[in-house]
Amino acid sequence: MTDFSACALVLAAGKGTRMYSDKPKVLRTLLGEPMLHYVYSALDTVFEDKIYTVVGFGAEHVEAAFPDYKSGFVLQKEQLGTGHALQTAWSSVQESGCEYCFIINGDTPLVNKVTVLDFLDAAVKDKTDLSFLTITPDEENQFGRVIRDKDLKVKAIVEAKDYDESVYGPPSGEVNAGIYCLKVSAIDGLLSRLNNENKSGEYYITDLVDLAVESEMNVTAVNCGNSIDLMGINTPYELSKAESALRFKIVDDLLRQGVVVHNCECAAVGPKAEIAPGAEITGPCEIFGKSVISSGCLVESNVFMRDAFIAEGAVIHSFSHIEKSEVGVGCSVGPYGRLRPGAVLEEGSKVGNFVEVKKSRLGKGVKASHLTYLGDSEIGAGTNVGAGTITCNYDGKNKFKTIIGENVFIGSNTAIVAPVEVGAGALIGAGSTITKKIGENELAVARGKQVNIRRHTEKS
Ligand code: UD1
Ligand code: CA
Repeated sequence: MTDFSACALVLAAGKGTRMYSDKPKVLRTLLGEPMLHYVYSALDTVFEDKIYTVVGFGAEHVEAAFPDYKSGFVLQKEQLGTGHALQTAWSSVQESGCEYCFIINGDTPLVNKVTVLDFLDAAVKDKTDLSFLTITPDEENQFGRVIRDKDLKVKAIVEAKDYDESVYGPPSGEVNAGIYCLKVSAIDGLLSRLNNENKSGEYYITDLVDLAVESEMNVTAVNCGNSIDLMGINTPYELSKAESALRFKIVDDLLRQGVVVHNCECAAVGPKAEIAPGAEITGPCEIFGKSVISSGCLVESNVFMRDAFIAEGAVIHSFSHIEKSEVGVGCSVGPYGRLRPGAVLEEGSKVGNFVEVKKSRLGKGVKASHLTYLGDSEIGAGTNVGAGTITCNYDGKNKFKTIIGENVFIGSNTAIVAPVEVGAGALIGAGSTITKKIGENELAVARGKQVNIRRHTEKS
């Protein structure tokens, strides 16, 4: 963009009544990321720091999800409609000093950067005062109907609720996508003329089309066919359709890059995840956030990951759940392994079935194969953690650390009450409750002594 200047305005203040939820609609997720993430991804390199977002319903949650986002947020205290949202943000648009204002509904997450750029270029080249994108969806919908005259010149957008066939004739199927480009100086005089005399009692941004046409401005509508990419999301049905389309696209890209995806129709990979060619994953699975799966890894079915780093050659067995954790080269997790935030598994270590690890570092070759909880702990290389070992890290008020040296052998069903240290080479007898430091190479047994006495029976 060299010969003109444009800012972007994202309309995101609405509640999303048709989602039947108290969560602001633009924070609803597709493949683990909120709708707004996708809208911003399409805009940020185009408009750089000139991106404003109108927030209202749940504003604090939207702002918290995107702290310091670009030029920031404009608060629309009462959500009186998309036209009112534009009026509210207009002073920010003017202060940006930009010639053009690009506007997009925040509930249009599949939009891509190329569409945005092409649309802007055409709007500027054609010297339009108001331009917008349209689609002709295959399915029945409630979008704003586009009205054109005999010469196919745009006349107005009429919302589905307000559409009267006796006035406008049968609908053509062409509808408004909610993406506009306005010439700021031209539209300035029209904004105050919006009214709320319609079935919803709202100020509609779409009424600008009618007003601009009346004022003999240059108004164009660019039809993009039945592209799902420009579909607004208003209902759970539409959210699910959009998520499926996006899921298909991401998995298709991975397959083309050389990732082996078994059962690919139910593998879900988020837009920020990276999977190396040659890695193998099996659906169903959910690989979300900034997860990285390196080459030579195998991720079996029914695995959930968010912000997980999986190094070369690691194997994640079925039904494992991994969040904000690192799995080292050649490690093995699960089946049914759980790595909570802050778990770090060094090279060759193993976390087996029904083992939960939180904020803990397992050194090279550590094995915790069965039924164990390791929290706030450091475990030295080569240590074997017996089945049923529990680090008791919480006394009801505070959390404490457990430090275990290298090559320790922990017998089954051991409770280690933190804070406590276990020296390298120590051996803990099965069933112990460890409350005191164990020195290097010491054997600790802390359990009731076995007593064998004659059994009292009727005969004796
Ligand atoms: C809108 C358009 C419709 C178009 C459709 C495309 C209007 C009047 N209608 O309808 O022509 O076909 O989008 O998807 O614009 N918002 C605010 N403040 C408000 C109200 C809404 O910021 O006071 C935001 C919402 O958060 C949403 C966007 O504006 O992201 C669109 O609002 P929504 O209620 O979803 O409009 P639609 O009925 O879908
Ligand atoms: Ca909408």
